[in-house]
Amino acid sequence: MRRGSIVQMVVIGVIAGAIATAVALLIPWMPTSASKEFDRINFTYWFATVISLFVFAVVAAILVYELLNFRVKADDLSDGPPVHGHTMLEVVWTVIPTILVTAIIVVSTVVLAQNSRAGDDPLQIGVVGVQFAWKFEYEHGKSYGSLRLPLDRKVQLQITANDVIHSFWVPQFAQKQDAVPGQVYNLMITPTREGTFPVICTELCGLGHSIMRSEAIVMSQAEYDGWVESESAPPEGEVDGLAVFNENGCGACHVFTAAGSTGAVGPSLDNLSEAAAAHGGMELAEYIRESIVDPNAYAPPGYVAGTMPPFDQIPPDSLDALVQYLVENTE
Ligand code: CUA
Repeated sequence: MRRGSIVQMVVIGVIAGAIATAVALLIPWMPTSASKEFDRINFTYWFATVISLFVFAVVAAILVYELLNFRVKADDLSDGPPVHGHTMLEVVWTVIPTILVTAIIVVSTVVLAQNSRAGDDPLQIGVVGVQFAWKFEYEHGKSYGSLRLPLDRKVQLQITANDVIHSFWVPQFAQKQDAVPGQVYNLMITPTREGTFPVICTELCGLGHSIMRSEAIVMSQAEYDGWVESESAPPEGEVDGLAVFNENGCGACHVFTAAGSTGAVGPSLDNLSEAAAAHGGMELAEYIRESIVDPNAYAPPGYVAGTMPPFDQIPPDSLDALVQYLVENTE
């Protein structure tokens, strides 16, 4: 091969590689990381991308060089020269890709193992997907509609679902995990940045799928400890109906002015007396209780039975408080 042609091939390869690198680096493809697991995944991603760019540049350079230099002349109908294999070339194009692919496998396997390692004492939080809200269950015995995490502490989420398959995803933590009824799957998160990040359901799960969102709040360890302490204090007096409303994510699907909620999947809770009257003149508190515990017994006009899951696991005093709260604040 002539020296000039090799120079030409290298120049084409460098230009093709530079363009691909610019596209890869200049466009912000990924959200900014907020966890150690994200950083490791990011490293794996770029490791594989840089190798791919190198291979791409080599292939593009050879291809363009061939097109420019070995193009058949017009009216040349003769056969090309017979070419036999080239052992050295074949060894090279087998050995180099084998090494590169093996390197990607090793890096990916190590990262996968590191990202699923729970360590000695992870903070455990239960995550339950229900149509159409997330519920986060803490070791101090309470559950919430949003996820609170301490900074720099390994957290093991134990993810499941009550009704259909959902999928837990916080873009800034990079990992997705399906929430499947009857199964509990673990997901490790080690937050590295304070802030509030979206929790998104990424599995089509019914009418309210697109609004099945919550938030993950990462705070300092001290702030987190303070929060747990204040939440662990024995409740003063009666259970707060609004708290039960929020813990169960009712606002994700229902408008209720008293609670400031605007969910649009289910009927509004602002005029329940009217709805109870329409349901055979049922007593208001009874109607509300039935609608929570056994929502499919009756669907108000315009709504389909089977959309709302039964909330039959709420402890009796909490359920009483919730019913009372709704009775007092509806029309
Ligand atoms: Cu839950 Cu989509």
